[in-house]
Amino acid sequence: METIIANMRQSVDEAEIRRAADILKNGGLVAFPTETVYGLGGNALDAGASAKIYEAKGRPSDNPLIVHICDMQALDPIVREIPEAARRLADAFWPGPLTMIFKKTDLVPSATTGGLDTVAVRFPSHPVAQALIKAAGGYIAAPSANTSGRPSPTRAEHVIEDLSGKVEMIIDGGEVGIGLESSIIDLTEETPVILRPGFINKEMFSGVIGEVKTDAALLTNDPSVHPKAPGMKYRHYAPKAELTVVEGPQEDVCACICRMAKEAQEKGEKVGIIAAAETAAFYPQELVHVIGTRAHEETIAHNLYAVLRDFDECDTTKIFSEAFDTPSMGNAIMNRLMKAAGQRRIRAGRE
Ligand code: TXA
Ligand code: MG
Repeated sequence: METIIANMRQSVDEAEIRRAADILKNGGLVAFPTETVYGLGGNALDAGASAKIYEAKGRPSDNPLIVHICDMQALDPIVREIPEAARRLADAFWPGPLTMIFKKTDLVPSATTGGLDTVAVRFPSHPVAQALIKAAGGYIAAPSANTSGRPSPTRAEHVIEDLSGKVEMIIDGGEVGIGLESSIIDLTEETPVILRPGFINKEMFSGVIGEVKTDAALLTNDPSVHPKAPGMKYRHYAPKAELTVVEGPQEDVCACICRMAKEAQEKGEKVGIIAAAETAAFYPQELVHVIGTRAHEETIAHNLYAVLRDFDECDTTKIFSEAFDTPSMGNAIMNRLMKAAGQRRIRAGRE
Protein backbone atom coordinates (compact mmCIF):
# COMPACT_ATOMS: atom_id res chain seq x y z
CA MET A 1 0.00 0.00 0.00
CA GLU A 2 1.26 3.49 -0.87
CA THR A 3 0.97 5.74 2.20
CA ILE A 4 -0.01 9.37 1.55
CA ILE A 5 1.91 11.87 3.74
CA ALA A 6 -0.05 15.09 4.34
CA ASN A 7 1.83 18.07 5.74
CA MET A 8 -0.05 20.05 8.39
CA ARG A 9 2.91 21.31 10.38
CA GLN A 10 1.85 24.92 10.03
CA SER A 11 -1.94 24.70 9.89
CA VAL A 12 -4.94 22.45 9.27
CA ASP A 13 -5.33 21.77 5.54
CA GLU A 14 -9.08 21.40 5.00
CA ALA A 15 -8.78 19.69 1.62
CA GLU A 16 -6.43 17.06 3.04
CA ILE A 17 -8.68 16.64 6.08
CA ARG A 18 -11.58 15.83 3.72
CA ARG A 19 -9.40 13.31 1.92
CA ALA A 20 -8.42 11.73 5.26
CA ALA A 21 -12.05 11.68 6.41
CA ASP A 22 -13.07 9.85 3.21
CA ILE A 23 -10.43 7.22 3.90
CA LEU A 24 -11.80 6.75 7.43
CA LYS A 25 -15.42 6.60 6.25
CA ASN A 26 -14.41 3.88 3.80
CA GLY A 27 -12.89 1.78 6.58
CA GLY A 28 -9.26 2.82 6.03
CA LEU A 29 -6.61 4.04 8.48
CA VAL A 30 -5.12 7.51 9.02
CA ALA A 31 -2.39 8.34 11.54
CA PHE A 32 -2.68 11.85 13.00
CA PRO A 33 -1.11 14.09 15.65
CA THR A 34 -2.67 14.72 19.06
CA GLU A 35 -1.30 16.77 21.95
CA THR A 36 -0.05 13.58 23.69
CA VAL A 37 1.35 11.23 21.03
CA TYR A 38 0.43 10.37 17.42
CA GLY A 39 -2.67 8.18 17.03
CA LEU A 40 -3.48 5.47 14.48
CA GLY A 41 -7.07 6.27 13.57
CA GLY A 42 -9.93 4.18 12.21
CA ASN A 43 -13.72 4.58 12.38
CA ALA A 44 -14.53 3.58 15.98
CA LEU A 45 -18.02 2.37 15.07
CA ASP A 46 -16.75 0.04 12.32
CA ALA A 47 -15.56 -3.33 13.64
CA GLY A 48 -13.65 -3.93 10.40
CA ALA A 49 -11.64 -0.74 10.85
CA SER A 50 -10.73 -1.71 14.41
CA ALA A 51 -9.54 -5.10 13.16
CA LYS A 52 -7.30 -3.29 10.67
CA ILE A 53 -5.83 -1.15 13.46
CA TYR A 54 -4.84 -4.24 15.44
CA GLU A 55 -3.29 -5.75 12.36
CA ALA A 56 -1.31 -2.64 11.33
CA LYS A 57 0.12 -2.27 14.85
CA GLY A 58 0.65 -5.99 15.39
CA ARG A 59 -1.35 -5.52 18.60
CA PRO A 60 -3.16 -8.27 20.53
CA SER A 61 -6.90 -7.80 19.90
CA ASP A 62 -7.81 -8.09 23.61
CA ASN A 63 -6.20 -4.67 24.18
CA PRO A 64 -9.01 -2.09 23.78
CA LEU A 65 -8.82 1.15 21.79
CA ILE A 66 -9.62 4.70 22.89
CA VAL A 67 -12.56 6.37 21.10
CA HIS A 68 -11.75 10.00 20.24
CA ILE A 69 -14.57 12.55 20.06
CA CYS A 70 -14.66 16.28 19.29
CA ASP A 71 -17.63 17.53 21.35
CA MET A 72 -19.47 16.59 24.54
CA GLN A 73 -22.71 15.71 22.69
CA ALA A 74 -20.88 12.81 21.06
CA LEU A 75 -20.65 11.09 24.43
CA ASP A 76 -24.37 10.31 24.92
CA PRO A 77 -24.82 7.77 22.11
CA ILE A 78 -21.78 5.68 23.08
CA VAL A 79 -21.99 5.54 26.91
CA ARG A 80 -24.75 4.15 29.16
CA GLU A 81 -24.42 6.89 31.77
CA ILE A 82 -22.28 9.95 32.44
CA PRO A 83 -21.43 10.03 36.15
CA GLU A 84 -21.31 13.46 37.80
CA ALA A 85 -17.55 13.05 38.35
CA ALA A 86 -17.09 12.59 34.60
CA ARG A 87 -18.94 15.82 33.86
CA ARG A 88 -16.71 17.70 36.25
CA LEU A 89 -13.54 16.16 34.84
CA ALA A 90 -14.69 16.95 31.31
CA ASP A 91 -15.31 20.57 32.33
CA ALA A 92 -11.86 20.79 33.87
CA PHE A 93 -9.70 18.83 31.41
CA TRP A 94 -11.47 18.34 28.06
CA PRO A 95 -10.39 18.96 25.43
CA GLY A 96 -7.05 17.62 26.66
CA PRO A 97 -4.85 14.69 27.72
CA LEU A 98 -7.54 12.80 29.65
CA THR A 99 -9.21 9.46 28.83
CA MET A 100 -12.27 8.35 30.81
CA ILE A 101 -13.71 4.83 31.00
CA PHE A 102 -17.51 4.48 30.81
CA LYS A 103 -20.03 1.65 30.43
CA LYS A 104 -20.60 1.36 26.69
CA THR A 105 -23.74 1.16 24.56
CA ASP A 106 -24.26 -1.31 21.69
CA LEU A 107 -23.26 1.38 19.19
CA VAL A 108 -19.60 0.69 20.02
CA PRO A 109 -18.54 -2.65 18.51
CA SER A 110 -16.83 -5.04 20.87
CA ALA A 111 -13.97 -5.23 18.36
CA THR A 112 -13.14 -1.64 19.38
CA THR A 113 -13.23 -2.37 23.12
CA GLY A 114 -11.36 -5.66 23.00
CA GLY A 115 -14.51 -7.49 24.09
CA LEU A 116 -15.06 -5.33 27.20
CA ASP A 117 -18.46 -3.80 28.06
CA THR A 118 -16.74 -0.51 28.87
CA VAL A 119 -15.33 2.11 26.50
CA ALA A 120 -12.42 4.53 26.84
CA VAL A 121 -13.19 8.03 25.52
CA ARG A 122 -10.95 11.05 24.92
CA PHE A 123 -11.62 14.54 23.53
CA PRO A 124 -8.20 15.72 22.30
CA SER A 125 -7.26 19.40 22.05
CA HIS A 126 -4.99 19.22 18.99
CA PRO A 127 -6.58 21.22 16.12
CA VAL A 128 -5.68 18.60 13.48
CA ALA A 129 -7.21 15.82 15.60
CA GLN A 130 -10.37 17.84 16.17
CA ALA A 131 -10.78 18.72 12.49
CA LEU A 132 -10.28 15.09 11.47
CA ILE A 133 -12.71 13.64 14.03
CA LYS A 134 -15.36 16.15 13.00
CA ALA A 135 -14.95 15.52 9.27
CA ALA A 136 -14.92 11.75 9.76
CA GLY A 137 -18.28 11.64 11.54
CA GLY A 138 -17.37 12.10 15.18
CA TYR A 139 -15.78 8.85 16.41
CA ILE A 140 -12.18 7.81 15.75
CA ALA A 141 -10.64 4.82 17.52
CA ALA A 142 -6.94 5.49 17.94
CA PRO A 143 -4.19 3.72 19.81
CA SER A 144 -0.72 5.24 19.76
CA ALA A 145 0.60 5.03 16.17
CA ASN A 146 3.62 2.80 16.88
CA THR A 147 4.23 -0.83 16.08
CA SER A 148 3.20 -2.77 19.17
CA GLY A 149 6.22 -2.95 21.52
CA ARG A 150 7.99 0.18 20.26
CA PRO A 151 8.00 3.58 21.99
CA SER A 152 4.96 5.73 21.16
CA PRO A 153 5.54 8.20 18.31
CA THR A 154 5.98 11.86 19.11
CA ARG A 155 6.98 12.94 15.57
CA ALA A 156 5.64 12.02 12.14
CA GLU A 157 9.03 10.45 11.31
CA HIS A 158 8.44 7.88 14.06
CA VAL A 159 5.05 7.00 12.57
CA ILE A 160 6.55 6.72 9.10
CA GLU A 161 9.24 4.36 10.47
CA ASP A 162 6.64 2.05 11.99
CA LEU A 163 3.59 2.25 9.72
CA SER A 164 4.61 3.33 6.24
CA GLY A 165 3.00 0.98 3.71
CA LYS A 166 0.51 -0.29 6.32
CA VAL A 167 -1.89 2.68 6.50
CA GLU A 168 -3.57 4.82 3.84
CA MET A 169 -2.39 8.19 5.17
CA ILE A 170 -0.13 9.81 7.76
CA ILE A 171 -0.76 13.43 8.74
CA ASP A 172 2.46 15.20 9.72
CA GLY A 173 1.68 17.78 12.42
CA GLY A 174 5.28 18.18 13.57
CA GLU A 175 6.35 17.36 17.11
CA VAL A 176 3.58 16.72 19.62
CA GLY A 177 3.35 18.82 22.79
CA ILE A 178 3.20 16.55 25.83
CA GLY A 179 4.95 13.43 24.58
CA LEU A 180 3.35 10.86 26.94
CA GLU A 181 -0.03 9.19 26.47
CA SER A 182 -3.15 10.57 28.18
CA SER A 183 -4.01 9.92 31.81
CA ILE A 184 -6.71 7.22 32.05
CA ILE A 185 -9.34 7.24 34.80
CA ASP A 186 -12.03 4.60 35.29
CA LEU A 187 -15.41 6.04 36.28
CA THR A 188 -17.32 2.77 36.31
CA GLU A 189 -16.28 2.04 39.92
CA GLU A 190 -17.71 3.53 43.10
CA THR A 191 -14.47 5.52 43.60
CA PRO A 192 -12.72 6.62 40.38
CA VAL A 193 -9.47 4.74 39.69
CA ILE A 194 -6.41 5.99 37.80
CA LEU A 195 -5.41 3.26 35.34
CA ARG A 196 -2.57 5.09 33.58
CA PRO A 197 -0.66 8.12 34.92
CA GLY A 198 -0.17 11.04 32.55
CA PHE A 199 0.02 14.82 32.40
CA ILE A 200 -3.08 15.03 34.63
CA ASN A 201 -1.82 13.69 37.95
CA LYS A 202 -3.57 12.41 41.06
CA GLU A 203 -3.60 15.79 42.80
CA MET A 204 -5.20 17.40 39.75
CA PHE A 205 -7.91 14.72 39.72
CA SER A 206 -8.53 15.03 43.46
CA GLY A 207 -8.74 18.79 43.17
CA VAL A 208 -11.78 18.36 40.91
CA ILE A 209 -13.56 15.21 42.17
CA GLY A 210 -12.16 14.44 45.62
CA GLU A 211 -11.10 10.90 46.42
CA VAL A 212 -9.45 8.91 43.62
CA LYS A 213 -7.63 5.61 43.81
CA THR A 214 -4.66 4.31 41.85
CA ASP A 215 -4.90 0.92 40.15
CA ALA A 216 -3.11 -1.57 42.42
CA ALA A 217 -0.97 -2.84 39.54
CA LEU A 218 0.65 0.60 39.20
CA LEU A 219 1.89 0.42 42.77
CA THR A 220 3.57 -2.98 42.72
CA ASN A 221 6.00 -5.03 40.65
CA ASP A 222 4.11 -8.22 41.50
CA PRO A 223 3.14 -9.69 38.10
CA SER A 224 0.19 -11.56 39.65
CA VAL A 225 -1.61 -8.22 40.19
CA HIS A 226 -3.29 -7.56 36.83
CA PRO A 227 -3.77 -3.96 35.66
CA LYS A 228 -7.34 -2.99 34.79
CA ALA A 229 -6.18 -1.30 31.56
CA PRO A 230 -5.21 -4.39 29.56
CA GLY A 231 -2.51 -2.47 27.67
CA MET A 232 -0.61 -1.65 30.85
CA LYS A 233 0.43 -5.28 31.29
CA TYR A 234 2.70 -5.33 28.26
CA ARG A 235 6.36 -4.46 28.56
CA HIS A 236 6.12 -1.88 25.84
CA TYR A 237 7.75 1.46 25.15
CA ALA A 238 10.84 -0.72 25.04
CA PRO A 239 14.08 0.15 23.27
CA LYS A 240 16.08 -2.73 21.79
CA ALA A 241 18.87 -2.20 24.32
CA GLU A 242 18.76 -3.36 27.94
CA LEU A 243 17.88 -0.33 30.03
CA THR A 244 18.67 0.06 33.74
CA VAL A 245 17.33 2.93 35.84
CA VAL A 246 19.57 4.14 38.67
CA GLU A 247 18.08 6.06 41.59
CA GLY A 248 19.48 7.60 44.74
CA PRO A 249 21.29 10.81 45.72
CA GLN A 250 22.53 12.67 42.64
CA GLU A 251 26.27 12.25 43.21
CA ASP A 252 25.90 8.53 43.90
CA VAL A 253 23.80 8.07 40.79
CA CYS A 254 26.39 9.76 38.60
CA ALA A 255 29.23 7.72 40.10
CA CYS A 256 27.31 4.46 39.78
CA ILE A 257 26.29 5.08 36.16
CA CYS A 258 29.86 6.06 35.19
CA ARG A 259 31.22 2.88 36.76
CA MET A 260 28.64 0.59 35.16
CA ALA A 261 29.04 2.30 31.79
CA LYS A 262 32.81 1.73 31.90
CA GLU A 263 32.43 -1.91 32.88
CA ALA A 264 29.91 -2.51 30.12
CA GLN A 265 32.16 -0.84 27.53
CA GLU A 266 35.04 -3.04 28.60
CA LYS A 267 32.84 -6.04 27.86
CA GLY A 268 32.26 -4.71 24.35
CA GLU A 269 28.75 -3.30 24.88
CA LYS A 270 27.60 -0.20 22.99
CA VAL A 271 26.61 2.02 25.89
CA GLY A 272 24.27 5.01 26.18
CA ILE A 273 23.40 7.20 29.16
CA ILE A 274 20.18 9.17 29.74
CA ALA A 275 20.70 12.24 31.90
CA ALA A 276 19.11 15.58 32.68
CA ALA A 277 20.84 18.76 31.49
CA GLU A 278 21.77 19.54 35.09
CA THR A 279 24.00 16.44 35.43
CA ALA A 280 25.02 15.70 31.81
CA ALA A 281 28.54 17.08 32.33
CA PHE A 282 29.33 14.37 34.89
CA TYR A 283 29.23 11.62 32.25
CA PRO A 284 31.44 10.77 29.26
CA GLN A 285 30.13 13.21 26.63
CA GLU A 286 30.13 10.70 23.76
CA LEU A 287 27.71 8.44 25.65
CA VAL A 288 25.22 10.85 27.14
CA HIS A 289 21.80 11.79 25.69
CA VAL A 290 20.29 14.83 27.38
CA ILE A 291 16.59 14.13 27.85
CA GLY A 292 15.55 17.56 29.13
CA THR A 293 15.91 19.70 32.20
CA ARG A 294 14.68 19.02 35.72
CA ALA A 295 13.88 22.72 35.99
CA HIS A 296 11.22 22.18 33.29
CA GLU A 297 10.06 18.62 33.78
CA GLU A 298 7.73 18.78 30.78
CA THR A 299 10.85 18.73 28.59
CA ILE A 300 11.73 15.29 30.00
CA ALA A 301 8.26 13.90 29.20
CA HIS A 302 8.41 15.53 25.78
CA ASN A 303 11.72 13.91 24.79
CA LEU A 304 11.53 10.48 26.46
CA TYR A 305 10.23 8.43 23.53
CA ALA A 306 12.39 10.18 20.93
CA VAL A 307 15.50 9.47 23.05
CA LEU A 308 14.56 5.79 23.34
CA ARG A 309 14.11 5.61 19.56
CA ASP A 310 17.48 7.35 19.01
CA PHE A 311 19.21 4.55 20.89
CA ASP A 312 17.59 2.00 18.57
CA GLU A 313 18.97 3.90 15.58
CA CYS A 314 22.53 3.79 16.85
CA ASP A 315 22.33 0.10 17.86
CA THR A 316 23.01 0.74 21.52
CA THR A 317 23.03 -2.48 23.57
CA LYS A 318 23.06 -1.13 27.16
CA ILE A 319 21.45 2.05 28.46
CA PHE A 320 21.77 3.51 31.94
CA SER A 321 19.32 6.21 32.96
CA GLU A 322 18.92 8.57 35.85
CA ALA A 323 15.53 8.39 37.60
CA PHE A 324 13.16 11.32 37.05
CA ASP A 325 10.82 11.55 40.03
CA THR A 326 9.85 15.10 39.13
CA PRO A 327 7.12 16.89 41.11
CA SER A 328 4.18 16.91 38.69
CA MET A 329 4.72 14.38 35.89
CA GLY A 330 7.19 12.16 37.76
CA ASN A 331 4.70 9.31 38.13
CA ALA A 332 3.92 9.29 34.43
CA ILE A 333 7.56 9.62 33.36
CA MET A 334 8.76 6.88 35.72
CA ASN A 335 5.87 4.58 34.72
CA ARG A 336 6.99 4.71 31.06
CA LEU A 337 10.72 4.63 31.86
CA MET A 338 10.35 1.60 34.15
CA LYS A 339 8.34 -0.22 31.48
CA ALA A 340 11.07 0.52 28.96
CA ALA A 341 13.49 -0.91 31.53
CA GLY A 342 11.42 -4.04 32.06
CA GLN A 343 11.29 -2.79 35.71
CA ARG A 344 15.12 -3.07 36.02
CA ARG A 345 16.07 -0.53 38.69
CA ILE A 346 19.00 -0.26 41.07
CA ARG A 347 19.75 2.03 43.95
CA ALA A 348 23.12 3.77 43.91
CA GLY A 349 24.82 3.54 47.29
CA ARG A 350 27.96 5.05 48.68
CA GLU A 351 30.98 2.92 47.99
O1 TXA B 1 -2.83 9.81 24.59
C1 TXA B 1 -3.43 8.81 24.24
O2 TXA B 1 -4.27 8.25 24.97
C2 TXA B 1 -3.08 8.20 22.87
C3 TXA B 1 -3.57 9.20 21.80
C4 TXA B 1 -3.44 8.66 20.41
O3 TXA B 1 -4.88 9.60 22.08
N1 TXA B 1 -3.68 6.91 22.70
C5 TXA B 1 -3.23 5.82 23.36
O4 TXA B 1 -3.88 4.65 23.04
O5 TXA B 1 -2.33 5.85 24.16
P1 TXA B 1 -3.29 3.19 23.35
O6 TXA B 1 -4.20 2.27 22.63
O7 TXA B 1 -1.88 3.13 23.00
O8 TXA B 1 -3.52 3.01 24.88
C6 TXA B 1 -4.84 2.83 25.36
C7 TXA B 1 -4.82 2.26 26.74
C8 TXA B 1 -4.41 0.80 26.75
O9 TXA B 1 -3.59 0.56 27.89
C9 TXA B 1 -5.76 0.09 26.91
O10 TXA B 1 -5.63 -1.16 27.53
C10 TXA B 1 -6.54 1.09 27.76
O11 TXA B 1 -6.16 2.32 27.25
N2 TXA B 1 -8.00 0.96 27.60
C11 TXA B 1 -8.72 1.21 26.49
N3 TXA B 1 -10.03 0.92 26.69
C12 TXA B 1 -10.13 0.49 27.96
C13 TXA B 1 -11.21 0.05 28.78
N4 TXA B 1 -12.46 -0.03 28.31
N5 TXA B 1 -10.95 -0.33 30.05
C14 TXA B 1 -9.68 -0.26 30.54
N6 TXA B 1 -8.61 0.15 29.82
C15 TXA B 1 -8.83 0.52 28.55
MG1 MG C 1 0.15 2.63 23.07
